[in-house]
Amino acid sequence: MDYDPIAAFYALNYAHYTDDLEFYTRLAQDYGGPVLELGAGTGRVSRAIARQGLEVVALEPSVQMRELGAEHTKGLPVKWAPGDMRQLSLRRKFPLIIAPFNAFMHLYTLEDQDAAMAGIHKHLGKGGRLAFDLYNPAHIGPQGVLQHEGDYKGGVSVFIHQQHEAAVQSLNTHYLVDRVSPKGTLKRQTFTLTQRYFTRYEIERWLRAFGLRYRLFGGFHHQPYTAEAPVMCFLAWQK
Ligand SMILES: C[S@@+](CC[C@H](N)C(=O)[O-])C[C@H]1O[C@@H](n2cnc3c(N)ncnc32)[C@H](O)[C@@H]1O
Repeated sequence: MDYDPIAAFYALNYAHYTDDLEFYTRLAQDYGGPVLELGAGTGRVSRAIARQGLEVVALEPSVQMRELGAEHTKGLPVKWAPGDMRQLSLRRKFPLIIAPFNAFMHLYTLEDQDAAMAGIHKHLGKGGRLAFDLYNPAHIGPQGVLQHEGDYKGGVSVFIHQQHEAAVQSLNTHYLVDRVSPKGTLKRQTFTLTQRYFTRYEIERWLRAFGLRYRLFGGFHHQPYTAEAPVMCFLAWQK
């Protein structure tokens, strides 16, 4: 999916999401750099890791997301790389590869998944780790119900509604971004985020198919995975 049209909105809406930062920065301290972030977005996680003095390669296909990311990580050791995680060819290995905040939900088909994992396999150094988190499908909300997501400076309010197609495990999140001018005029922008969701066992099977061992957590504090877990969080390594 092309994030160019939603880049500015993404930066606004998710800049304050920090739940995962300690999890990924700790791993970076433990395994060292350079760290490869797949689908690095606007640099939320890359920046936190680079602030510890570790080099990060931030792979991101969207030009607009990369531009915002480069601004957010100015002066830090982050190298922004255009590219698709299904065609990884960086000619170097990494002690840690991460895909935070649902980046793998853009692997829509089995072919996408296999192409990405084959590339990851080639780029993971000996003893290296792959870490990622995914949406827990148990939290899919009611269809079509408009929910208030947040309010921002300048009279901006964001609402979402989700559309779920169980047969193909797809989740469309429709964002309504409303700006009310001081005169009371409403300007509305709409964006749709299309993602594929995963169940735990299909991810476990995917990792096993590539010979990886793994641990599954139900959150960023290494808690057990349960139906109520906020996310599915995987830490994987080569046998
Ligand atoms: C939900 S955002 C997560 C961004 C960032 N990891 C974060 O934690 O804020 C998903 C990102 O994955 C990127 N993406 C989508 N398809 C991709 C692909 N095939 N290869 C690499 N990145 C991709 C999008 O452009 C977007 O920036």
